[in-house]
Amino acid sequence: MKKLKIFVILVAYIICFPVQAAEIDLQKLVNEVHAQFANENRGKNPDYIPALAKVDPKLFAVSIVTADGKSYSAGDIKHEFSIQSVGKAFNLSAVMQQQGEDAIVEKIGVNATGLPFSSIMAIELNEERSVNPLVNAGAIAQVSLLEAKNAKEKWQMIETNLETFAGRDLTVMQDIYKSETDTNVKNQAIARLLANYGRLYADVEESVDLYTRMCSVGVNTHDLAVMGATYANRGINPVTGKKAVAAKHVPQILAVMATAGLYDDSGLWLYKVGLPAKSGVGGGIVAVVPGKYGIAAFSPPVDAAGNSVRAQLAIEEIAKRLNANIFQ
Ligand code: DON
Repeated sequence: MKKLKIFVILVAYIICFPVQAAEIDLQKLVNEVHAQFANENRGKNPDYIPALAKVDPKLFAVSIVTADGKSYSAGDIKHEFSIQSVGKAFNLSAVMQQQGEDAIVEKIGVNATGLPFSSIMAIELNEERSVNPLVNAGAIAQVSLLEAKNAKEKWQMIETNLETFAGRDLTVMQDIYKSETDTNVKNQAIARLLANYGRLYADVEESVDLYTRMCSVGVNTHDLAVMGATYANRGINPVTGKKAVAAKHVPQILAVMATAGLYDDSGLWLYKVGLPAKSGVGGGIVAVVPGKYGIAAFSPPVDAAGNSVRAQLAIEEIAKRLNANIFQ
């Protein structure tokens, strides 16, 4: 009788907790995926920001953070790289919280451009001009939309927001910031064009400068995975327990990431991987599996669209092995 009782309890446990019964060893998974792509060498460091051309192209790291805050990493996980465009997907939270969800649609836009991230044509061809918050035009517009007493306070809002997502203090990588500031003539042109169309909401120089500083914030893959896991956990950082953004905004932000997170390759990415994600020319990519994981990878060489080759491959493989495609 006692044996039967134990058997019934055991069966009930397996039925109620099937995930635990078949739990995947995530540390083994990141180790294996890191090893699988260790010798991948396609792509090239971006050189339009000279400091990025100098980063060691062999660097490679992979991290997963679960929506309940457990972390697993492999490779060059201590290495800090500039967040670049990945920051746009998190700054969007700060703007949405302050300005409301309608402002994002009405003052920036949420459609795909289908064009490169710094396309002037996209501004000329679309009446929304900035088109979406994740291309350069939309990200500069995002920064300009944030209201603050002055530039210093606005920067503090931007930095604090990123830190709440990452769960630690972050710093600007001064070499990247200087290099990009010295060469960002095209972003200045984009900001001026937006101003010309009434789609920039603050001073041109100040907006480009704050945007450039935001792109130069240093992170590692663990940070990016925590940031992704915060979206996976409906806006609460699962490591610190702090709220980064209201849960109601998360689906909208993930929708924008799915639409435009990998720029002109966003459709291909979604077709192959089926996850909202955001890339940066610093070599980082973060993907979000709602309710489950933030997955991040980093390696400097990027493809023609500006997305890290190895980071894409690593996240694609992890998503496949975790059966994480959201469209199934
Ligand atoms: O403004 C730029 O060009 C860079 N600071 C950011 C671009 C970027 O990261 C595009 N990413 N794939």
